[in-house]
Amino acid sequence: MGKHRQIALLPGDGIGPEIMQATLPIIFKAAELTGDDITATPGLIGWAAYDKYHDTMPETTWKLCVEVDAILFGAVGLPGRDKEVAAEMRPERRALLPLRKHFQLGCNIRPVVVMPELAELSPLKDHLLKDGVNLTFFRELVGGDYFGERREDPDGQWAEDVCRYERQTIVSIARMAFDFAKKTGQPVTSIDKANVLGATGTFWRSIVQEVHDTEYPEVVLDHVYVDAFNMYLFIKPSRYSVILTSNAHGDILSDGAAGLAGSLGLLPSASINSNTSFGLYEPGGGSAPDIAGKGIANPIAMILSAAMMFRHSFGNDAAAEMIEEAVRETLRYGFRTKDLLPEGSSQEPVSTTTMANAVLDRLKMPVPQVA
Ligand code: IPM
Ligand code: MN
Repeated sequence: MGKHRQIALLPGDGIGPEIMQATLPIIFKAAELTGDDITATPGLIGWAAYDKYHDTMPETTWKLCVEVDAILFGAVGLPGRDKEVAAEMRPERRALLPLRKHFQLGCNIRPVVVMPELAELSPLKDHLLKDGVNLTFFRELVGGDYFGERREDPDGQWAEDVCRYERQTIVSIARMAFDFAKKTGQPVTSIDKANVLGATGTFWRSIVQEVHDTEYPEVVLDHVYVDAFNMYLFIKPSRYSVILTSNAHGDILSDGAAGLAGSLGLLPSASINSNTSFGLYEPGGGSAPDIAGKGIANPIAMILSAAMMFRHSFGNDAAAEMIEEAVRETLRYGFRTKDLLPEGSSQEPVSTTTMANAVLDRLKMPVPQVA
């Protein structure tokens, strides 16, 4: 028997609402086919919330989030409106970062896969892609200078953002990365700047090594400096698999890796509390205000984020795999939103809903192979 799951739907700004709307039938069908019973309750966040409550993260939305098992997040942020409020009231700082901190979402998983069918979208040359690119970033999400003390000299002579890491914070993201690597048989590359950041960089490296040696000696582990890795991403991306990084390094490297895939519309993400499996699931592409409201945004990143929700928060691998397989089939069949067509292509792009419905039509319960 399946379980009852409660989801908060926070579509937010820009393309958030339209890609989330298109994804909902897929979530309900995958749940039904696998025996999960889902209740989904919408809430306002970002500028959409500001327009009603004068607050980008209103109290009612906090109340909703604490009652559910997972949050499905669209996107927040409309740079054109930033000057309407003080910097700390903008949705990134008032909504997204506090959600990560409050729910202790210390493990951010960002897969970057270049499918052979879509390799022509990548800015990299063919020979760099022929062995496939399949990266999974494990970015620490509640520590480091993102959440350290901030101070500014009243006389304007200095400013500081303290970068502090607790042992347990590193142990917990390292375990998530090693667990995944062990399950998939992949090596782990841990990123740091231990040659310069003698405190946090060295600390990061030694704790990752210790977790490896005591708990995961069978997993292949390598340490690479962040600057060198940033280059390797573009000259030998096929060599890497599981990437373990701090909060700030992961922010920068995961956007760089996303550039390899050629479209932000394909990249999902999961931000998980590894003790409770509560999670926030969010497409990587952001609010994309330039294409919002036109029905042309690619829903795949949102759909794959929902698959991650089934896997990581609901422990429902069958639903996750069913959605991921349906997405691959849809892309293999040739469905393309505008972002997935190379410049000058003569193919007519499909709409957000056509793409999502094509995935919906391809959802089927996997059956065992007996003949
Ligand atoms: C991300 C974003 C956020 C971050 C911003 C919006 C706060 O860039 O999720 O990578 O820097 O973590
Ligand atoms: Mn970022």
